[in-house]
Amino acid sequence: MSRDAVINVGLMGLGVVGGGVASALLREPSLVAARAGCPVRLRKVLVRDVSRPRDVELPPGVLTADAEDILGDPEIDILVEVMGGSDPAADYFRRAILSGKHVVTANKEVMAKEGAELMALARANRVSLLFEASVGGGIPIVGCLMNELAANGVSSIRTIINGTTNYILTRMAHQRTAFADALAEAQGLGYAEADPTNDVEGIDAAYKLTVLATLAYGCRFRPEDVFRQGISGLEPQDFRYAQEFGYSIKSLAIADTGGGGVQLRVYPALVPSENMLANVNGVYNAVEVDGDLCGRVLFHGMGAGRGPTTSAVLGDLAETARLVRDNAAPGGLRELSDGLGVRSIDELQTRYYIRLIVADRAGVLAQIAKALGDCDISIASVLQKDADVETQSAEIVIMTHPARESSVQRALLDIGGLPPVRRVGNMIRIEE
Ligand SMILES: NC(=O)c1ccc[n+]([C@@H]2O[C@H](COP(=O)([O-])OP(=O)(O)OC[C@H]3O[C@@H](n4cnc5c(N)ncnc54)[C@H](OP(=O)(O)O)[C@@H]3O)[C@@H](O)[C@H]2O)c1
Repeated sequence: MSRDAVINVGLMGLGVVGGGVASALLREPSLVAARAGCPVRLRKVLVRDVSRPRDVELPPGVLTADAEDILGDPEIDILVEVMGGSDPAADYFRRAILSGKHVVTANKEVMAKEGAELMALARANRVSLLFEASVGGGIPIVGCLMNELAANGVSSIRTIINGTTNYILTRMAHQRTAFADALAEAQGLGYAEADPTNDVEGIDAAYKLTVLATLAYGCRFRPEDVFRQGISGLEPQDFRYAQEFGYSIKSLAIADTGGGGVQLRVYPALVPSENMLANVNGVYNAVEVDGDLCGRVLFHGMGAGRGPTTSAVLGDLAETARLVRDNAAPGGLRELSDGLGVRSIDELQTRYYIRLIVADRAGVLAQIAKALGDCDISIASVLQKDADVETQSAEIVIMTHPARESSVQRALLDIGGLPPVRRVGNMIRIEE
């Protein structure tokens, strides 16, 4: 292709991200075209409802509700997908790839569920499939794992990868707000959706972790491989006790190796207050990669929003446009193996925070200590607080020494059955 030839883009989606991508492509002079080294034109934009008012003014004839206008147009070189969801996006990708179109996407769900197959299909058809915006918004972690960090044996990836939950947890920690109030506030500010399930239950983080682990370990992982626990069970007193012990509570998404497999987990964890991850607040994201050559590498930045996500999409688009311009072979997509197994959460070995609501009478702690001891769990420290005269109950917080997850789960069942124990308030894993 000559430098003067126009590269045509079909954009699917004109919402938060699509609006940013369209605006940038329509701007003159176009920075994307300058970076690509050739004209890049927005040829068609797919939406569900063409009659909805938009915050971007498109040239006449560009907006469509018919996917065929993009998929069936041989003049379109690059499909940029920012609709979300795996259906129909995955099918559109397959059709685009099979007809020789390159694909750029921000879609974590489709990449987590079908990324391995789509990457193989793209490789077989010698087209590019780039998805930097699918994880971490403006943080360039996907490309780094594919390219700059690819020579490393990665021992762990520890992340705060969902800005909505991090905002809620930051409010709960700093303002001692209850979960429901912090969530309502996040919804009011547009950080959380009307149905917040994907964010607060860790589903979104599990998709992103699946994508990162697949790239870091060169293996196919699925969202079902991720052990997942949401943040809705946290109560204001957990934040108070965590602080007394010198910890913050953060929802972490972690992949690490050991015992011949990879363990993938998303859960709220106690993180030492001086740890960098404990100080990532509000809607910010962070990714910490431990590699055998590079050591510990840290990324921090805006994980969502129009600007950061558009930045990632356009970076991929400029790279893809250069490829089309030069008629070059796509790089980056390595072959995936099934080599590494997934280690069960039962095998997790860590320290635990356990909060119990018990009858305020003598001998209770001895019974609890015996139940823990019977499961090979030793106590590191105990805090007894908040005796309630009216209900004659007290709150006991126990920090354990390192123990096995399966033992802790067994002990909690036993402890929950002890007559003086009114309720297991919470169990939170500690990530040192
Ligand atoms: N928002 C962020 O900060 C962010 C950050 C990182 C990644 N992402 C990812 O980027 C993607 C888009 O997110 P968004 O926040 O921009 O979503 P959004 O605001 O809800 O916009 C979605 C757009 O896609 C269109 N669309 C959805 N399903 C469609 C279908 N089946 N056929 C045709 N058009 C369809 C919608 O059309 P109508 O306008 O007609 O309804 C809308 O224009 C998602 O994969 C998301 O996970 C978003």
